[in-house]
Amino acid sequence: MNSSDSQDRIIRFYGASHPAMFEIERRCMDRDGLVIRHLDRELPQGLVLDVGAGNGFTAVRLCSPSRPIVALEPDSGMIDPGTPLLWIRGIAQNAPFRESTFHAAYATWAFFFDGLPDIDEGLAELRRIVKNNGKIIIVDNAGDDGFSSLATRNTASNRGWWRDRGFDETLIHTSFRFDSLDEATKLIGFYFGDEAAAGNTKTEIEYRVVAYSTTVPKR
Ligand SMILES: C[S@@+](CC[C@H](N)C(=O)[O-])C[C@H]1O[C@@H](n2cnc3c(N)ncnc32)[C@H](O)[C@@H]1O
Repeated sequence: MNSSDSQDRIIRFYGASHPAMFEIERRCMDRDGLVIRHLDRELPQGLVLDVGAGNGFTAVRLCSPSRPIVALEPDSGMIDPGTPLLWIRGIAQNAPFRESTFHAAYATWAFFFDGLPDIDEGLAELRRIVKNNGKIIIVDNAGDDGFSSLATRNTASNRGWWRDRGFDETLIHTSFRFDSLDEATKLIGFYFGDEAAAGNTKTEIEYRVVAYSTTVPKR
């Protein structure tokens, strides 16, 4: 990362400091892989960028010899060099790539949260580094589901905000499916507090996800 990639431009994520919680999240969220299937269908072959790749969970499931994936991630604690990905440390707002490098770029629940002040900076970077007619896909929470009804704060992305920026949306109806109520209680308590966790009696919780997509116009 270079000197302008200051710490205040990175959204703190708990994955490296609470690995046990992250393990539950990644195993139980969208167990049927509907988000991965959507991305697999929508992303082209060629060089693809995963922005805020975390430990590479999504990228390893999408990469192939004909679709190599570069994993951009600022938190060294998240980077898993054991995965067959090309890891680069950096941030979305200052993506360390030449213009028109990628056939597509995507982010899953990473950085592109529509309330952030510098999100347009991140989007401008994606539009710069993705080739003409290449795709940009941003995956986030859709809200209005069992998951958000447990939340003590707004967890849904603002669909109008994305529409105003020329993104189309696809809704994906998936779930968190836990192995036990104890596991569900642990993760919900960690996310939203003990009271929210105590209000849940289910091991499978409805979860609606939205994939926003747009095509980079010809320059
Ligand atoms: C919720 S995790 C999602 C990880 C992964 N995309 C997944 O679906 O498992 C968000 C990730 O975004 C990374 N991140 C935080 N600030 C960022 C920034 N400014 N640019 C790119 N990634 C960022 C965090 O370090 C974290 O790994």
